[in-house]
Amino acid sequence: MKILLFGKHGQLGWELHRSLQGLGQVLAFDYPEVDFRTPSSLKRLVEGVAPHVVINAAAYTDVDKAESEPEQARLINSDAPGLLAEICHALGAALIHYSTDYVFDGQKGTPYTEDDIPRTLNVYGQTKLDGERAVLGTGGINLVFRTAWVYSMRRDSFVTKVLRWARSQSEIRIVEDQVSNPTWARALAEITAQLLAKAGPEPLLWLVERAGLYHLAGRGFTSRFGWAKAIVEKDPNVAQQFVRVILPARSVDFPAPATRPHLSALDCSKFEQTFALCLPDWELAVCLAMET
Ligand SMILES: NC(=O)c1ccc[n+]([C@@H]2O[C@H](COP(=O)([O-])OP(=O)(O)OC[C@H]3O[C@@H](n4cnc5c(N)ncnc54)[C@H](OP(=O)(O)O)[C@@H]3O)[C@@H](O)[C@H]2O)c1
Repeated sequence: MKILLFGKHGQLGWELHRSLQGLGQVLAFDYPEVDFRTPSSLKRLVEGVAPHVVINAAAYTDVDKAESEPEQARLINSDAPGLLAEICHALGAALIHYSTDYVFDGQKGTPYTEDDIPRTLNVYGQTKLDGERAVLGTGGINLVFRTAWVYSMRRDSFVTKVLRWARSQSEIRIVEDQVSNPTWARALAEITAQLLAKAGPEPLLWLVERAGLYHLAGRGFTSRFGWAKAIVEKDPNVAQQFVRVILPARSVDFPAPATRPHLSALDCSKFEQTFALCLPDWELAVCLAMET
């Protein structure tokens, strides 16, 4: 299988580059070698490689900055994925693309399924929603995985920030009114690779029967406050901690340019039933990640 990966330096992309080895030939790129804001270069590259599967882990992910750079976010999160899907469709290649729980407004009160109608609260969420619609609208072999609260130990993430604060502050205040599924980038990458391994010798035939939109995030859900408490409690280097207390706060206590949904957790049953695979429990994954 020939796989073309975009976003290889990102949290998820770096883990994908590692997890996909063994499935065949993996050609991986990132900005600035490939700039999603320049569609012509994207087309030339994909056509030149002629892959069986394209995996897009590149994205504009700065949720707050997107409020003041909507055009940049739109080019990278909406237009480029749509173009990628068109190019893949023309080549007969499959596309795996990732989206976000921020396509939802968080008002439902329980985890969202793929049948729930999205309603976005911020520019990032809207550009990702437009991107998934552009991809799925091409009618090619597209798998769109909506995920949530992605973290890795390699790049600055919620987990590395909480660990840093726990080593430098006696008191940490974390919002309690944002709830979703913490998702370890490595587990998400590995499940993507396992899915492709299951596709067997005729991957495109297998994938075309399962194309569509899926929710795919860490099992279970929690608030940012609950997540931070787990990080501090399970920290393998607890002796280095300076923190004495973690206090719950509210989103209004930390004004930010982008509004976040209150409960945007994803129900991943459709993915689990379709592929007989699931991501680990979010709390176990945090422990495993911190031990790496
Ligand atoms: N992070 C989360 O909490 C979260 C939550 C839900 C869904 N997701 C989705 O999950 C996927 C992976 O997210 P992630 O956290 O791994 O993202 P990430 O760490 O921010 O990685 C994104 C990658 O895209 C690259 N990129 C940025 N602008 C580009 C451009 N103009 N052309 C080409 N590449 C460009 C980035 O390069 P630079 O580093 O040089 O900018 C980076 O390597 C994305 O689709 C994201 O929307 C993420």
